[in-house]
Amino acid sequence: MHLGVFEVAAPQVGGTLSWSHPWSDSVHHREVEHWVGVAQLLEAAGFDFLFFADGYGYPSVDGDLPDAAVRGGLNFSGLDPMLLVPALARATERLGFVVTASTGVDHPVAMARRFATLDHLTGGRIGWNVVTGASQDTVAALFGHETMTAHDTRYEIAEEHVELCRRLWEDCWEDGALVEDKAAGVFADPRRLHRVEHRGTHFRTSGYFTVPPSPQRTPVLFQAGSSDRGRAFAARHAECVFLQGTTPAHAARNVADIRGRAAALGRDPASVRVLVGATVTVAETSAAASERRAEFEAMQTDEVAAVVYAGNTGIDLTALDPDQPLDRALAGAGSSRVGQMGQSNIDRFRRPDGTTPLVREVLAELRGRGTRGFTVVGDPGEVADQLEELVEVTDVDGFLLEAVFSPADHRLFCDLVVPELRRRGRLPAPGALPGPTLRQRLGSPGPRLPGGRRDRDRVDGPAPVA
Ligand SMILES: Cc1cc2nc3c(=O)[nH]c(=O)nc-3n(C[C@H](O)[C@H](O)[C@H](O)COP(=O)(O)O)c2cc1C
Repeated sequence: MHLGVFEVAAPQVGGTLSWSHPWSDSVHHREVEHWVGVAQLLEAAGFDFLFFADGYGYPSVDGDLPDAAVRGGLNFSGLDPMLLVPALARATERLGFVVTASTGVDHPVAMARRFATLDHLTGGRIGWNVVTGASQDTVAALFGHETMTAHDTRYEIAEEHVELCRRLWEDCWEDGALVEDKAAGVFADPRRLHRVEHRGTHFRTSGYFTVPPSPQRTPVLFQAGSSDRGRAFAARHAECVFLQGTTPAHAARNVADIRGRAAALGRDPASVRVLVGATVTVAETSAAASERRAEFEAMQTDEVAAVVYAGNTGIDLTALDPDQPLDRALAGAGSSRVGQMGQSNIDRFRRPDGTTPLVREVLAELRGRGTRGFTVVGDPGEVADQLEELVEVTDVDGFLLEAVFSPADHRLFCDLVVPELRRRGRLPAPGALPGPTLRQRLGSPGPRLPGGRRDRDRVDGPAPVA
């Protein structure tokens, strides 16, 4: 079972409210020592990685930032987590770090350079969670764009963006191009460097990538966003998919679909690691765990749920008829943004027969759930049972834990659940963890992206000299 922790360098994770509770320390998210503590805790417990969600945007309703988002610190305000990574890598030895970055803002050369730098500074422990971006209406306005780029076009841009990044990482520097021979005074071998030429629909580049090859070259490619286009993208590029499951059946369908699409593209479907979000509340006893969960639930309101949902989907649930099914209410609302902001959080409410629950039921479901995945509550044995069952039923490879009281919930999981999972043979013994790179940690035989140099024939440059 692979384990990561889902965090944001912000007051609030997962579209719910809990930062102001005495058990939460996430107000310290602007202090490096806070994150060093989290990273060292996870490393000692044998977690695979610490994952940071991120984005430039924030929720908006009718084109403006709702007061409730500001007052509640709900998906509003936060730091750039990428800049935390070097400090955290220095304080740890084996833990991986995954940072979310959207393909809709920066040029691939800038993105590739930052991740290659991080791969060097972490010794090959970095992953990139590729997203097309949440809250795209506010992101577009912030960056001065007239309109938000359409949903499917964003995925088209993502395809080209990642393809180009891969060429920069994999194709410019041959193995052995970096010489660093002090005696001979040769830093790099010009015969082993190749120009990358790209004239695409959305990006152009011509020249050399200036960062020498890092341990993994390409960071481990994660992906989040499970619309039809999102799953197609995952099947092609993702080594690891972050899925948000509503029900086990819904998650199982998505996992089977992603693996099936990967197989159709000639990939080994089992090599795509699928991790599902889970909010685990654990305590020594079942009753204590339920009491802890009740503390969290008492803080949640419809207003919180609606603001966060609006940021993810462009849908203001409070403006819809509560007694209409969601899809009919949406059709009546006639908003051009719906479906363009992101589809995963709409699709999650679609039943297998295509129908949707009433708007009031959707709000009730979102209260305390936000954008979180599965809810797991119990004593250590009960939690381990539920996690094992989810693995069996859905075919996921592991979990991204979304604490409600951070980092106290992480500590409880490490102290109570990790030993139980290890006893059941679901986690390796601390001394038996594969590595040293994140890619190997996640089951790949080597540090490099399999098939990474597939675009070799499209690279210009002199033939390498043996
Ligand atoms: C599980 C999950 C995690 C996500 N994490 C982020 C994130 O950290 N930052 C971000 O900008 N978008 C994030 N997104 C939003 C995607 O970028 C957004 O959904 C995008 O529009 C993809 O569209 P889709 O959901 O319709 O596939 C996430 C989406 C999902 C489903």
